[in-house]
Amino acid sequence: MKTVFQRRLARHHSARRGHVTRMPSWGPPAFLALLLAAATTAAATASSTRTGQEPAALRGDATVGEQLYEDYTCYGCHGHTGETGRGPRLNPPRLRQGQFIAYLRNPPNPRRMPPYRQADVSDQKLADIYAFIESLPSASPNAEDIPVLRGLLEETPR
Ligand code: HEC
Repeated sequence: MKTVFQRRLARHHSARRGHVTRMPSWGPPAFLALLLAAATTAAATASSTRTGQEPAALRGDATVGEQLYEDYTCYGCHGHTGETGRGPRLNPPRLRQGQFIAYLRNPPNPRRMPPYRQADVSDQKLADIYAFIESLPSASPNAEDIPVLRGLLEETPR
């Protein structure tokens, strides 16, 4: 039995389905973009090796990130507040900014969590998305903190 909210969300999704077009395609332009991304990464690595420092964390803009979170359809699998959906909770953030960006570039299960490559979305944009996720209040308490659910959890053999 779906709740009104789930039905509305499903409708919202199907309305936007045509919008999920930011996956990489393997035409020559994509290949060139990849080469470029590799070259950029190599240059960045070279410069951080030169200074002997970790690249500084990017300053993310949560307001820009909120729009990007919609544009790149993160909400489709992680919910509008990063707490629901078939993907894992993103709120509160488990990864630090650098780990977050690295994860999105190269997720371990690309068939479940699509990779977002440099050619499709810049580090700065991912930093903005990260800032948005960090800015979200955590609305839903853990199941253990809701007495009725705690009761259920205690009754359920695990
Ligand atoms: C098609 C569904 C889908 C979309 C779209 C999607 N994700 Fe995911 N994401 C997943 C799934 C599923 C996992 C868990 C993958 C696994 O367990 O290997 C995941 C994992 C993650 C993780 C790791 C979480 C952790 O705690 O390990 C982060 C961070 C993340 N996604 C962020 C994003 C962001 C940001 C976007 C948008 C730019 C996005 N995802 C878009 C499905 C999606």
